[in-house]
Amino acid sequence: MSLIVKGLNVLYGDSQALWDVDLEIPNGGLVSLIGANGAGKTTLMKTIVGLILARSGSVVLEDVDVLSLAPERRVQLGLALVPEGRRLFKGLTVQENLLVGAYARRDRQAIQQDLEKVVAYMPELKSILSRLAGDLSGGQQQMCAIGRALMAKPRVLLVDEMSLGLAPVVVDRLADTLQRVNQDEGISILIVEQDVELSLSISQTAYVLETGRVVASGTSSDLRNREDIKAAYLGLH
Ligand SMILES: Nc1ncnc2c1ncn2[C@@H]1O[C@H](COP(=O)(O)OP(=O)(O)O)[C@@H](O)[C@H]1O
Ligand SMILES: [Mg+2]
Repeated sequence: MSLIVKGLNVLYGDSQALWDVDLEIPNGGLVSLIGANGAGKTTLMKTIVGLILARSGSVVLEDVDVLSLAPERRVQLGLALVPEGRRLFKGLTVQENLLVGAYARRDRQAIQQDLEKVVAYMPELKSILSRLAGDLSGGQQQMCAIGRALMAKPRVLLVDEMSLGLAPVVVDRLADTLQRVNQDEGISILIVEQDVELSLSISQTAYVLETGRVVASGTSSDLRNREDIKAAYLGLH
């Protein structure tokens, strides 16, 4: 499914966090969202899934404006978020956390089958299904969080801070998993990833947020070659 954000304005009290944001995730696309700390990336993702209310604008999933719908309804229509900081239930097992992701689904009978599918995408989960989420490494927790989002059977997946604080080898695994999910399942993905080079290398298009506004967008390869983007986000590797 495609997701089209238009003219989105979001305020925290008197302070405006997003200004007239336009962004498009094409059907089956993988899109990067780039920006410094505090730029508004998390606010945008939370607004798309309904955890924050917008002042104005539209968020159209396929052909439905979901902006006035409850978060659970948006999940049923195909939206899922892997939140910054993972937000697992630490006192529940991995399997229980995965099943939490399926809470809004009506096709209960397919859930067990999808659990197996999620484990097939991330085989590392298999041996830890009965462990408490709070006892896992950061990488395992992020796999569990991605798995939980996949259990909602999303058509558009938002991944906030895919690899913050994780070891490089785990970062590559997670990026690979998201690419496979995108290509094999046709799930559209919007990703926030602090390794901007990696993010641009796996996405087709990208948006740059600065203090709540989209200041640049285009194909990932074009943005990667722009001097201003290189200087601000790519460092001097
Ligand atoms: N719950 C909140 N209440 C008030 N201001 C907030 C809240 N969450 C975020 N902000 C502010 O909104 C801006 C965008 O934050 P955020 O969306 O978290 O940015 P990013 O994810 O890009 O780091 C920042 O100035 C931040 O301080
Ligand atoms: Mg954030």
